[in-house]
Parts: sequence; C-alpha cells; structure tokens
Amino acid sequence: MRILFLGDIVGRSGREGVLSRLPTLRQKLALDLVIVNAENASHGFGLSPGIATDLFNGGVDVITLGNHSWDRRDLIPHIDAAPRIIRPLNFPPGTPGNGSVQIELADGRKALVVNAMGRLFMDPLDDPFRSINELLTRHRLGVTTQAIVVDIHAEATSEKWALGNVLDGRVSLVVGTHTHTPTADHRILPAGTAFQTDAGMCGDYDSVIGMSKTPAITRFLRKMPGERLQPAEGEATICGIMVETDDATGLARRLAPLRQGGLLAQTMPDF
Ligand SMILES: [Fe+2]
Ligand SMILES: [Fe+2]
Repeated sequence: MRILFLGDIVGRSGREGVLSRLPTLRQKLALDLVIVNAENASHGFGLSPGIATDLFNGGVDVITLGNHSWDRRDLIPHIDAAPRIIRPLNFPPGTPGNGSVQIELADGRKALVVNAMGRLFMDPLDDPFRSINELLTRHRLGVTTQAIVVDIHAEATSEKWALGNVLDGRVSLVVGTHTHTPTADHRILPAGTAFQTDAGMCGDYDSVIGMSKTPAITRFLRKMPGERLQPAEGEATICGIMVETDDATGLARRLAPLRQGGLLAQTMPDF
C-alpha cells in the first residue's frame, strides 16, 4: 500500500499548498491512502467542518488532529458524524469523536489510522502507550488490516522515539506531528515499522512555526499578552512522508520524505 502522510496544515497557505498539489501527487505517486494532520488548518487554530470537507474533496482520506482539536467549536457537534476525522485516542472517555478509524480502500484492502497525543510538555491526558496497546489487541497488522498508521502528536522527541520502538513490528508507520519542523531521521526500525520523529508542517516557513513572525517573537521578548497570532501568508512548503508497505505483512518496504513548494529544500519520493 502506498501511503502519504502530511504534517500539520497551517492556515490558508498550508491548505492551498496541499489542495493545489494533491491531485497530481495522488496520480504521480500512485497513492492508495492520504492522511493529513489538520489541527491548524482554520486560520492556525482548529479545523472547521467546511475546511474538512474541502480537504476530503481535494483527495484526503483521513484527517488527524491534536491539542488544537477543539479550537473550532463547530467541529465538536460535527465530529461524531465524520468518522474520517479523528482526534487523539487518549482524550478522556466520553470525549466526542474517535481516536482511530479503519477505512476500506476501493480495492477492498483495509487500513487503520490512529491519532494519539504525547504527555511531555503537553496537556495531561491518559497514557498514549497504554491506549494504543489496548487498541492493538483488536487490530492485527497483516491479519485484520493491511496497514496501520499512527500519528503521535507530541512535543518531546524522546517520547516519539519510545513509542516508535514500542510499536515496532506491530504497525506500518509511526510519524510525529505538532512541532511543525520536519526531522531528517526517517528510517525503518528493526522489526519493520517506518518511523519519523516529525513530519513537519504544511505552511509558510518564513514564520515562527507557521505564525506571522513579529507577534510570535514579541511573546518571547515581553511577558505581556500581545496581538493574537496570525498564520504567515507566504507560499507553503508541504511536508510529509511517503511509505510503501507490504500487503502480506503490513510492514514498511520503503519510505521517503516529501517537501514541495516554499522555502525548504525540495524532495520528492522516487519510488
Ligand atoms: Fe500543529
Ligand atoms: Fe499541536
């Protein structure tokens, strides 16, 4: 299965970068499954139902979220009717929405997508390790599903590496989001799981993690409430990772980063 995962879409710049390229990418890379993190898609804060619809119409199969899941309150009454939008699995019991979704491709193959949030330097939540382990008692890679992708939305690199190693051999891909900064450590772990600490954002990198520079910098210079942060509006670099899995085992065969448009050095998977 050929899977593309794109990191946090930030504001209009990020949305346009993704939507303008996705039809071509789907075709050129023969993608079976496209997953995006869209917790910052609506002007940097949250995801509106309308923008979720635009992303689905534009070629996205599954949307993941994170600590900004509920910044757009209109998503809260919508999410239960939109199972392909998932929020972190380890939110407390009773939270609207789901932390995972199993989808069936047009050819009948199945893929499970999971979203979890780390706990280091983030809001306290249930244990993501235990939550995912519990979920995986009901899903077996290569048995009940051909692929499993885990988006670990977390600040700390150590927590993401630890999760990658805990899940090695049991899922197809563990990829981080939230820092808005792509890491160069994409690799296949010893038991066959593809891993990258952070996919990076889809947004304008002439910014502070996607936000307009001056107000974002002022927050560090003065301990005073400042202007509300606004997304930067220059051309986005869309950042993510592509993985090809073996349908028999669900494990990764190859992976490569994708970075297109905007300021960052460009790279395109060539398999
Ligand atoms: Fe984010
Ligand atoms: Fe986040």
